[in-house]
Amino acid sequence: MAPSPPAPLLLLLLALTGLAVAVAQFPFPPPQQPTTNASDADALRAVFRRWGLENGTTVASEDPCRKRVWFPSFATNASIDCSCDGSTGQCRITHLNVTGYLNLTEIPPALFNLTELVSLDLSSNNLTGPIPPEIANLSKLETWHFNNNQLDGSFPNEASHLTGLQSLWMFDNYIEGTLPEFIANFTNLTDLRIYGMKLQGPIPNNFSNLINLETLMLGDLDGGNSTLEFIASWANLSTLSLRKCGISGQLPNVLPNLPNLKYLDLGSNNLSGPIEPLLSYRSSGQLYISGNNFSGNLPSEMVQSSRPLDVSYNPFLNGSLPNNPAGQKWSINYIGTSIDASRTINSENLTLLNCLNMKECNYNNLITSFSVNCGGKQMTYPDSSSNMFYDDTSELGAVGFHVNTDRQWVVSQVGSDPLSDSPGIVNTTQVIPGIDMPELYQTARTSRSDLWYYVVGLSKGRYTVQLFFAEIVIQRELNNGPGRRSFNIDIQDQNIRTDFDISKEAGGLGRPTNITHEVTIENSVLKIHLYWNGRGTRRIPYEGAYGPLVSAIRVFPPENPINSPPPAQPEPVPQDNNNKDNKRRGVVAGIAALCIAAAVISSSVVYLWWKWVSLVKHPNSW
Ligand SMILES: *[C@@H]1O[C@H](CO)[C@@H](O)[C@H](O)[C@H]1NC(C)=O
Ligand SMILES: *[C@@H]1O[C@H](CO)[C@@H](O)[C@H](O)[C@H]1NC(C)=O
Ligand SMILES: *[C@@H]1O[C@H](CO)[C@@H](O)[C@H](O)[C@H]1NC(C)=O
Ligand SMILES: *[C@@H]1O[C@H](CO)[C@@H](O)[C@H](O)[C@H]1NC(C)=O
Ligand SMILES: *[C@@H]1O[C@H](CO)[C@@H](O)[C@H](O)[C@H]1NC(C)=O
Ligand SMILES: *[C@@H]1O[C@H](CO)[C@@H](O)[C@H](O)[C@H]1NC(C)=O
Ligand SMILES: *[C@@H]1O[C@H](CO)[C@@H](O)[C@H](O)[C@H]1NC(C)=O
Ligand SMILES: *[C@@H]1O[C@H](CO)[C@@H](O)[C@H](O)[C@H]1NC(C)=O
Ligand SMILES: *[C@@H]1O[C@H](CO)[C@@H](O)[C@H](O)[C@H]1NC(C)=O
Ligand SMILES: *[C@@H]1O[C@H](CO)[C@@H](O)[C@H](O)[C@H]1NC(C)=O
Ligand SMILES: *[C@@H]1O[C@H](CO)[C@@H](O)[C@H](O)[C@H]1NC(C)=O
Ligand SMILES: *[C@@H]1O[C@H](CO)[C@@H](O)[C@H](O)[C@H]1NC(C)=O
Repeated sequence: MAPSPPAPLLLLLLALTGLAVAVAQFPFPPPQQPTTNASDADALRAVFRRWGLENGTTVASEDPCRKRVWFPSFATNASIDCSCDGSTGQCRITHLNVTGYLNLTEIPPALFNLTELVSLDLSSNNLTGPIPPEIANLSKLETWHFNNNQLDGSFPNEASHLTGLQSLWMFDNYIEGTLPEFIANFTNLTDLRIYGMKLQGPIPNNFSNLINLETLMLGDLDGGNSTLEFIASWANLSTLSLRKCGISGQLPNVLPNLPNLKYLDLGSNNLSGPIEPLLSYRSSGQLYISGNNFSGNLPSEMVQSSRPLDVSYNPFLNGSLPNNPAGQKWSINYIGTSIDASRTINSENLTLLNCLNMKECNYNNLITSFSVNCGGKQMTYPDSSSNMFYDDTSELGAVGFHVNTDRQWVVSQVGSDPLSDSPGIVNTTQVIPGIDMPELYQTARTSRSDLWYYVVGLSKGRYTVQLFFAEIVIQRELNNGPGRRSFNIDIQDQNIRTDFDISKEAGGLGRPTNITHEVTIENSVLKIHLYWNGRGTRRIPYEGAYGPLVSAIRVFPPENPINSPPPAQPEPVPQDNNNKDNKRRGVVAGIAALCIAAAVISSSVVYLWWKWVSLVKHPNSW
């Protein structure tokens, strides 16, 4: 039997409870209520009214710095943060974060009256038009994120006043003109991301001033020859991605100066010469140098690691892969090089790889049709003339390729992204109703960067290539989240689609669409390349949902069209993930509420105890 608490303790408890009630009813001294500076409050109200985020009454009746959060959610967010002066209770708005609203198209002028802003995040909306020069009014900005919008025009020169910037994200817009030289004056920058736009290079040499950079992602710069010397003294750099930046010449010997570098992507530039300057870096980091003109030997020390290594499409890079007696899992892609793999893979596969490189191709088992169920299991459809869809379920990791065992085709991928791992293969349990061969769309292969499919051994002639797609990854939240996938498609090195957005083409998420394209095959190899172009959102519903995705591929002679019944108009697919997400959010909210309640209770107990003690000790101080 538990002993009952002694009477004095009970009395104390009672007294405390009474005090709690008293204090709750007569807060004394009255707590200082924070009040937003009137100019800031007016500006914020004007902005939110313009964006339709709050109706006039509620926004007018509530003090912004007391409210702070309007719509907090996974996909859409509208919140502010304030800095309050403890003695006067006056608050200034320092952070504004409105993200994920596809119906926000304009930047209201009143925004630029929020002159105390330190952080402005308007990413993943649908902002259009040029960046207003009034951005210069926000001279205290340290964080400026306008990424994933539809902004155009050129970078306003007025932005050169924002010299305190530490984080500048401007990717996935349509901004044109040259990459501004004034960014080199933002020496406090630690994180700079500008790609997926229409900017011209070269990268200004005085970017070498940006010695505090930890993350630099530049890309998709047209024209202009840049060199790499500018990174020479960035000792804090950990992530460097310079894809399609027109970088030429040989590698400077600067990588030993960058002890923190863990991720290096120099893909699709014009770099040449030996790759030995990367040797010391390679022992600690991921390396992507696809699509350059490197030559000489690939040192075997660079291969023997589980960290991703992508040297593909450097036609003059040679040497031989080291022996791999233990069958270790190397994460390497060397398609499109002159590297000799005969010690590592069997001769049948080698013949096929050599076909891709056009070194030799004595292929005698010619075919005239081919189908693959990308990311999925083998499927057979009796009414379809190319009726067997190959299994394509090999996990390729961050980089890699798979040679099909009966030597007919190859799938190759580079899933380069410094910020997350690639899902590679994705699936859904949703059945897409009312269409021919619905199972094909339930699985897909994706990549954050590049996917290639090669069909080897096609007879000379003309072919119809059909690519099938359905967006099965992005799940639009009930409140219309901003996920957007965008990629380019080349067939036989000819671009056939730019900024391809599956759900836009299909008229909705989870709906099917296809592309039909005719090609002439001369040399037995068909090459299909799907690749990310720097555009689209990156994080919805999780990191890495933006790169190419394909559900199935079919190749057949055009004079032998495949008869398939015309598809019925599919119903929009219900998104079962929403329920799961909502449940999860409910649980999270519940836990958060419990935590808050616990915190409130414990802090009140401490507060009351403290008040009690001070009341007892100094009765006159109340
Ligand atoms: C409120 O902000 C305005 C505009 O920046 C400024 O002129 C004014 O002094 C501020 N008021 C207070 C009480 O800080
Ligand atoms: C912004 O400031 C300007 C001048 O300081 C003022 O005329 C204008 O009314 C302000 N706008 C809002 C919405 O506060
Ligand atoms: C934009 O959408 C949000 C909710 O998704 C809504 O609250 C707001 O009123 C809309 N704004 C406009 C300008 O339509
Ligand atoms: C404004 O918002 C409040 C609270 O969100 C709501 O109760 C009210 O009905 C809204 N008024 C209008 C006109 O939409
Ligand atoms: C803005 O809000 C989104 C969603 O909550 C969050 O992911 C992002 O980090 C915030 N931006 C800044 C600059 O804090
Ligand atoms: C984005 O804005 C443009 C107009 O500028 C509009 O045509 C388009 O429909 C908007 N996109 C979405 C998803 O609302
Ligand atoms: C850069 O950061 C330092 C240290 O935080 C600060 O003192 C300095 O004022 C900043 N520079 C600019 C131009 O804001
Ligand atoms: C960079 O700053 C310096 C000194 O403040 C200034 O003279 C120069 O014009 C600036 N450069 C650019 C490109 O704005
Ligand atoms: C870049 O440099 C190469 C030679 O290194 C030259 O052929 C090419 O014309 C240059 N391109 C531009 C745009 O300057
Ligand atoms: C080469 O072919 C064999 C079967 O013949 C297969 O198991 C293996 O995965 C292939 N190697 C590569 C690198 O695709
Ligand atoms: C679908 O994807 C999930 C998560 O990646 C995986 O666990 C599951 O095995 C997959 N199902 C099929 C049928 O491939
Ligand atoms: C390809 O899409 C078109 C509509 O764009 C449709 O008529 C056709 O049936 C589709 N083909 C297949 C094989 O699903």
